[in-house]
Amino acid sequence: MAESSSDLRRRRWWRSTTTRVLAGVATVAATATVLVTAPGADAAASTLGAAAAQSGRYFGTAIAAGRLSNSAYTTIAAREFNMVTPENEMKPDATEPNQNQFNFSAGDQVYNWAVSHGSRVRGHTLAWHGQQPGWMQNMGGSALRSAMINHIQKVMAHYQGKLAYWDVVNEAFNEDGSRRQSNLQGTGNDWIEVAFKTARAADPSVKLCYNDYNIDNWSYGKTQGVYRMVQDFKSRGVPIDCVGLQAHFTGGSSVPGNFQQTISSFAALGVDVALTEVDVTNANTSQYSALTQACMNVARCVGITVWGVRDSDSWRSSESPLLFDGNGNKKAAYNSVLNALNSAGPGPTTTPTTPTTTPTDTTTPTTTPTTPGGGSCTATLSAGQSWGDRYNLNVSVSGSSSWTVTMNVPSPERISSTWNVNATWPSSQVMVGTPNGSGNNFGVTIMTNGNRTWPSVSCSAS
Ligand code: XIL
Repeated sequence: MAESSSDLRRRRWWRSTTTRVLAGVATVAATATVLVTAPGADAAASTLGAAAAQSGRYFGTAIAAGRLSNSAYTTIAAREFNMVTPENEMKPDATEPNQNQFNFSAGDQVYNWAVSHGSRVRGHTLAWHGQQPGWMQNMGGSALRSAMINHIQKVMAHYQGKLAYWDVVNEAFNEDGSRRQSNLQGTGNDWIEVAFKTARAADPSVKLCYNDYNIDNWSYGKTQGVYRMVQDFKSRGVPIDCVGLQAHFTGGSSVPGNFQQTISSFAALGVDVALTEVDVTNANTSQYSALTQACMNVARCVGITVWGVRDSDSWRSSESPLLFDGNGNKKAAYNSVLNALNSAGPGPTTTPTTPTTTPTDTTTPTTTPTTPGGGSCTATLSAGQSWGDRYNLNVSVSGSSSWTVTMNVPSPERISSTWNVNATWPSSQVMVGTPNGSGNNFGVTIMTNGNRTWPSVSCSAS
């Protein structure tokens, strides 16, 4: 059978990656260099987050604070996902129950759980007609406009510098592409751009998203309405960084044939695109695989979030729409998604075909990358792919197959995902890894947060 163009793309990508990895390791640990000529990244990753991380993307889930005491739930969530959206905890009714009195306890609970398990967080959501506190529902006009601005400023100040994305505005359009009538819309048609401008000023570090459902079909009125708004914002310099397609393929809808065209059309406007709340009636395997593939086929499709962990956690549990059943077992759709993630080409901001090595790939680590540990094993770091905000490191362990590797990541850097390793997190700066059956090479993605110093690493054998 002829090799598909995606196979070719992938092979080219790995070839260039391997070259750069070798360049990056040249200065370290002569005795172990041979071990890293075939970095673990070539092996298929065994979790959703790790598989997505190989192409610079994430795979996330919605997390509910009320379920964090359930260990069956948290075990799966910690293992599989590297992006977390609080399902309800950062919505206006949760964060501002009384006007100008803020409550971040549930939002912080989800946030803290996420980052202490190596995950990033998508904030959801700041301005929305739904789930408003009672006091806001009864408001309109200039009082509501001021309250919306104050809400955005205060909530974003609390999470300043901590989140990867914020859904600034949620669900503001009708099915025909016109604006949805709501108390917010009643304050004036410019409410959305005011929300985005307010958000940019409140936290310039986070990517600002517009999020909606039923914007999957390129020829649908609502899709076109949202597209025109984003196009208009980009042309006038209104700050917007991303569009979230909720992608609820439940309640009678299904993945349209032109889904990839929708994703690539938004991306062509110069925004990140993400699938933000995916669920599919009965977890139809071909639909899950098609939606994942559509995202993987568009470089600027940055990640996928499913709207819950197990079917029993879903807001539409009667449709069994998620990737794990109520007992926490992987469903058939899980494997189709994992396979599509594992065979993906490069993601959004990779530069895999650039002939010259980017400076960040060859940065000499300022900490000694190889440190003998308590037993007879050695962990050696080598550079993996690198992006504007993060980089991958490959870790190669020699001397023992029964190792414990400890990585200390200098603040403000943070590990956002791992693969081919059982990772535990004594703190957000420390990751302790043990073998997960994938061999003695594993990988990590590190968010730079402005700093690219490699972590210190030690190994002990048992
Ligand atoms: C849903 C939650 O999953 C439910 O727990 C809650 O009762 C209602 O909201 N679009 C969105 C999400 O943007 O916030 C919604 O989440 C699902 C639809």
